[in-house]
Amino acid sequence: PLSVMEQEDAIRQELGSLHGIPLFKCFIEGWPQVKAFQARPDDLLISTYPKSGTTWLSEIMDMIYHDGDAEKCRRDAIYNRVPFLEMKVPKSPSGVEQLENTPSPRLVKTHLPVQLLPTSFWEKDCKIIYMARNPKDVVVSYYYFHQMAKIHPDPGTKAEFLENFMAGKVAYGSWYDHVRGWWEKKQENMLYLFYEDMKKDPRREVKKILHFLGKEMAEGTVDKILHHTSFQEMKKNPAANYETLLSTMMDHSISPFLRKGISGDWKNHFTVAQNERFDQHYKEHMAGSDLHFQMEV
Ligand code: PPS
Repeated sequence: PLSVMEQEDAIRQELGSLHGIPLFKCFIEGWPQVKAFQARPDDLLISTYPKSGTTWLSEIMDMIYHDGDAEKCRRDAIYNRVPFLEMKVPKSPSGVEQLENTPSPRLVKTHLPVQLLPTSFWEKDCKIIYMARNPKDVVVSYYYFHQMAKIHPDPGTKAEFLENFMAGKVAYGSWYDHVRGWWEKKQENMLYLFYEDMKKDPRREVKKILHFLGKEMAEGTVDKILHHTSFQEMKKNPAANYETLLSTMMDHSISPFLRKGISGDWKNHFTVAQNERFDQHYKEHMAGSDLHFQMEV
């Protein structure tokens, strides 16, 4: 059983349900403010299913917004530079409160499924960048994140967590519904990126983003962005690696936030039987979609 202090701190509590999507109870408490959130036309939304490269894309975007000035991007931790819209935990400002105090142009992070995005983002026609990652690497990354980030319920064994993930019984629900929902909503003001493409050719992907923003940039500046946002650089950067967060929330000694940063790590974790079952499940749940994933690069 949880101690009173753990309950107050939202540690290891079971998930609630927000319009059918499993989510942290403390986030659900803050939902009325999120639903009523007033986007500004020059907001840029970074949207992802958890563990799909959110922090990587956020650092890239902040670097683009600061013309490759790495020192400016060390001004604060990533979770303050790019506030997390639906975040609400006891004793800290909520994502909405943080955003209200952020000068434009704002970068906004969300993991919300497309149907739950506050309507003002559509009304203000905000630019949106969605990043997706193959589900086998997502589930492995999410498993380790459950162990180190105490807001999640205990993940149990790897096999148990894999079952829950496949059934959509984890925070933010079904990975399939998430990636497909945002894919089907794709429109002119939305760029849909893949973690695996970013691994394979980050320069090409950064240029895609620049084109999407209608922004010109010298090649040397792109070089600086690529260097500063490499896994090795971000891992040792306290403004990007989440190590400044309270250790009651995240315990990096269990598993660092920037854990491996590769594509295909699932091969070190899935058994042959789990992989076969997953492939079959994937085929069924992606049927009829023209959305395709690379399971390694
Ligand atoms: S969160 O908590 O949902 O916002 O997490 P998110 O940032 O989406 O995902 C974390 C995973 O992204 C990896 N990561 C990177 N990979 C490559 N290059 C860079 N620069 C980078 N930055 C973060 C991070 O290591 C997590 O993946 P795993 O597989 O666990 O290493």
